[in-house]
Amino acid sequence: MERTFVMVKPDGVQRGLVGEVISRLERRGLRLVAAKFMWVSEELAAAHYAAHEGKSFYDGLIQYITSGPVMAMVWEGPNAIAAVRQTMGATHPTKADPGTIRHDFALEIGRNLTHASDTEPGSAEKEIQLWFKPEELVDWSREIDRWLFE
Ligand code: RTP
Ligand code: MG
Repeated sequence: MERTFVMVKPDGVQRGLVGEVISRLERRGLRLVAAKFMWVSEELAAAHYAAHEGKSFYDGLIQYITSGPVMAMVWEGPNAIAAVRQTMGATHPTKADPGTIRHDFALEIGRNLTHASDTEPGSAEKEIQLWFKPEELVDWSREIDRWLFE
């Protein structure tokens, strides 16, 4: 079982797409582990996007992510990291496949609705620890899990 960090960015919240994102992840079969509706501080934004510091889009990215509340979440399931990235679609919405969230609801890379941990080893775990305290992660199972997890 794998866990991944997911965020509905401020544009997704403002556009009323939190439910749509949650719904798609639920329907995929993933299990919700944690959720927190919050403003992102400058410090948290800088820590989360540390890998992008110095890039041309960095200042705009920090401005974007701190411009309104976000829905931060942890989801789990077999291959959850790759599965969620696939459901979100490519970073640039016009390169995202039809049926993905970014294709279906977005147009611009700087307003691409969601974040999901990348597949670099340790990335998801690091982000989960950055955004959530251990006691905020809920261990539970569903009656239907045996029909989703082989
Ligand atoms: P994310 O981290 O948000 O899930 O997206 P990602 O892995 O697909 O993309 P990443 O390369 O990590 O970039 C993080 C976010 O920065 C913004 N970005 N803007 N203007 C640009 O060229 C540019 N490149 C990246 C996007 O909002 C992207 O999601
Ligand atoms: Mg990324």
